[in-house]
Amino acid sequence: IPVDPFDFIIFGGTGDLAERKLIPALYQRQVAGQFSEPTRIIGASRTQMSDKEYRNFAEAAIREHVKKEEVDAKELKAFLERLTHLSIDAVSGEGFAGLRKALGETKRIRAFYLAVAPSLFGSIATNLKSNKLITPATRIIVEKPIGRDLESAMSLNDEIGKVFNERQIFRIDHYLGKETVQNLMALRFANVLFEPLWNATYIDHVQITVAETVGLEGRVSYYDKSGALRDMVQNHIMQLLCLVAMEPPASMSADAVRDEKLKVLRSLKPIQGNDVPKLTVRGQYRAGAAPTGPVKGYLEELEDDASTTETFVALKAEIANWRWAGVPFYLRTGKRLASRVSEIVIQFKHVPHSIFADNAGEIVANQLVIRLQPDEGVKQWLMIKDPGPGGMRLRHVPLDMSFASAFNVRNPDAYERLIMDVVRGNQTLFMRRDEVEAAWRFVDPILGGWSDGVQDVQGYTSGTWGPSGSIALIERDGRTWHEST
Ligand code: BG6
Repeated sequence: IPVDPFDFIIFGGTGDLAERKLIPALYQRQVAGQFSEPTRIIGASRTQMSDKEYRNFAEAAIREHVKKEEVDAKELKAFLERLTHLSIDAVSGEGFAGLRKALGETKRIRAFYLAVAPSLFGSIATNLKSNKLITPATRIIVEKPIGRDLESAMSLNDEIGKVFNERQIFRIDHYLGKETVQNLMALRFANVLFEPLWNATYIDHVQITVAETVGLEGRVSYYDKSGALRDMVQNHIMQLLCLVAMEPPASMSADAVRDEKLKVLRSLKPIQGNDVPKLTVRGQYRAGAAPTGPVKGYLEELEDDASTTETFVALKAEIANWRWAGVPFYLRTGKRLASRVSEIVIQFKHVPHSIFADNAGEIVANQLVIRLQPDEGVKQWLMIKDPGPGGMRLRHVPLDMSFASAFNVRNPDAYERLIMDVVRGNQTLFMRRDEVEAAWRFVDPILGGWSDGVQDVQGYTSGTWGPSGSIALIERDGRTWHEST
């Protein structure tokens, strides 16, 4: 369904995010027929560039990041015609007057995407305001990292909040735009099957794994100041945890969903002081193997052997509320791990009593595996009787739903969905200010514990599942990490 015409302005229009994600996503929405006339896209950057040069940049981005068979000459041409470039300096304010002229007096939806360093958020917002560029139909989109701790997140939120009201601010966590992540809500709340069991009475524990095989990918200066806890846990993993653990919202409206997520974040048991080394593991990759071949260690990539930045985190979280009391949530994420896999494992408890003879075989507890990427799908492991006349023998089998084989459709990139939600004004899949801050409130004491030197970073060989501490963290509790392949 086409949306109303809109103006989409990308600050950082020639940057990495615009090239890899935003321009390809917008192109896909053109192909999907969602744009009505006259939708315009303006790339803003400090570079002096003609519209033609910007269109060349965008075309190259599409050819590089969109599958060949999805690039259609006619659509591409129509898409590129929507694009123009403006040279704008966010700090000096130069170029904003030109932007005002380009946008003109219009009631059209206007979305400013700040694909720039957070240090520029404040000056861009102020310049937008002083140049009277903010209409009632204006929205602003910001990317993580929103701060590097609670205090800096609050001051960034204040800076943006001085100019925009919360209904106009779209804080992106691209994990929320992933198909399978949204599917979590469908699975939980469009089926009667799971919800009655979704609690401490029937669930033994939950595992959330977001594993990558890539290393720094040229983002050394950002990553070394950030580390995996800030880069992945504070946002993506916390959001996944919220979707798994939240109470059923009253509706899918933005605030109904975000209120429930916020309650989860606020119920997290703080990990602080002596608990930090007990409940968290920090790792850093050493030389080893990636799917592409042998790779260097983190410190060699950095050319600095002093960094203690973590490229791996595992932690044991607990949600102190009635539903989840005593149910551990084991979370882990890292770079240069054995395979690229993101999944959520709901481990159910054992049956309370077995009626089967010893030689029937072991009754394995049920497990629900929600695979976020790649090979998106849902697997519910069950016990059945082994077929045949050989008596009662039990067998552990999956009910396996692979999205690729069940639906023959293209899996859209998260940004496609999220960008169109901004235009439609739907904030359900965006983080509210209080959520971001509550997530930092949980993460801050862990960072504090680490910086007090309570706990060293452990090395792990690239191509493995992380440091031995991660295995110990879960095995201490008599459990094991789900074997992700
Ligand atoms: C980003 C992180 O937010 O997410 C990256 O900054 C990470 O470090 C990326 O690689 C992972 O996203 P995806 O969609 O590839 O799982």
